[in-house]
Amino acid sequence: MGGRLGGKVALITGAASGIGLATAGRFLSEGASVVMADVQAGAVEAEASRLAADGLPAVALVMDVTSSDDNRRAVEVAVDRFGRLDILFANAGIGYSGAIVDATDDDWDRVMAVNARGVFLSARESIRHMLAQDPPGGSVIINGSISGLAGIPGQAPYAPSKGAVVQLTRQLAVEYAARGIRVNCVCPGTVDTPVLRRGMAMSGDPEGFLAMLIAGHPIGRIGLADEIAAAVAFLASDEASFITGAILPVDGGYTAR
Ligand SMILES: NC(=O)c1ccc[n+]([C@@H]2O[C@H](COP(=O)([O-])OP(=O)(O)OC[C@H]3O[C@@H](n4cnc5c(N)ncnc54)[C@H](O)[C@@H]3O)[C@@H](O)[C@H]2O)c1
Repeated sequence: MGGRLGGKVALITGAASGIGLATAGRFLSEGASVVMADVQAGAVEAEASRLAADGLPAVALVMDVTSSDDNRRAVEVAVDRFGRLDILFANAGIGYSGAIVDATDDDWDRVMAVNARGVFLSARESIRHMLAQDPPGGSVIINGSISGLAGIPGQAPYAPSKGAVVQLTRQLAVEYAARGIRVNCVCPGTVDTPVLRRGMAMSGDPEGFLAMLIAGHPIGRIGLADEIAAAVAFLASDEASFITGAILPVDGGYTAR
C-alpha cells in the first residue's frame, strides 16, 4: 500500500484504546502493517478485528509491557506476520492522580513498572531486532507527557515515570543514531481518552478537574487522540529522517508558558 508509511511494519503497545488505537488507525491509513499489542485481550482483539475486516493489515497481540518475554514475543509476531519491524510506538501507560502523601508504595511500583520499565523493555527488544534485520534500522517513538517536562501537582508517581522515558529517548537516540535507528518522544498535553476519564473520576471533582486542566492549555481546550497520532506518524515516517532525540510537546502550548 502507498502512503508515507507504505511497506513499513509497526508495533504499537497500548493499542486497544485512546492514543494507541488512534495511532493504529493512522498508521494503517498511511500504509503500514500494524501489530496492535495490549493487556486488555477482549478490547484489542475486537479493535484489530474491526480494522482487519476493512481489509487492513492489523493483528492483535495480548501482552503485558512489564514482561520481557511478552516484549520479545511482540517482536516475533511482527516478524512472523509481516517480515520485519520498522516502527515501535511505545505508548502503553497508566495514569495516577493524587498527592504524594496519599500515594502508596504499590502506586509507585505499579506506575513505574508500566510507564518506565515497560518502555525500556519494549525499546530494548525492538532495537535488538532493528539492529539485526536486513537492512538494519527503524524508528522508535516513545509516548511521554507534559508531566515529564513540567511540575504538575498531584502526579507523584506518574511524572517521574514520564521523566524517565524522556531521558531514555535522548540516551537511545545518541546511542543508535549512527546505526540507522531514530528515537523520538511525543509529550502530549491533556488528551480526551479513557485514562483521562479515570483520572477525572479519581479526583473527586470531575468537572472542576477538567476545567483546571483546560485552563493550563493556552489553546483553550484539551487535545484529541488523533492529534497525537498525527505527530507520531510524522516522526515514524521518512519525512522525519533527520530528527532523532527530539522531545516534541503536542500540548496546545502547555509547556510554552
Ligand atoms: N490522555 C492523556 O491526557 C495523556 C497525556 C499525556 C500522555 N499520555 C500517555 O499516553 C499513553 C496512552 O494513554 P491514553 O490516554 O491513550 O490511555 P488509555 O488508557 O486509553 O490507553 C492506554 C492503553 O494501554 C494499555 N495498557 C496499560 N497497561 C498495559 C500493560 N501493562 N501492557 C500492555 N498494555 C497496557 C491499556 O490497556 C490501554 O489500552 C500513556 O502512556 C499515557 O501516559 C496520555
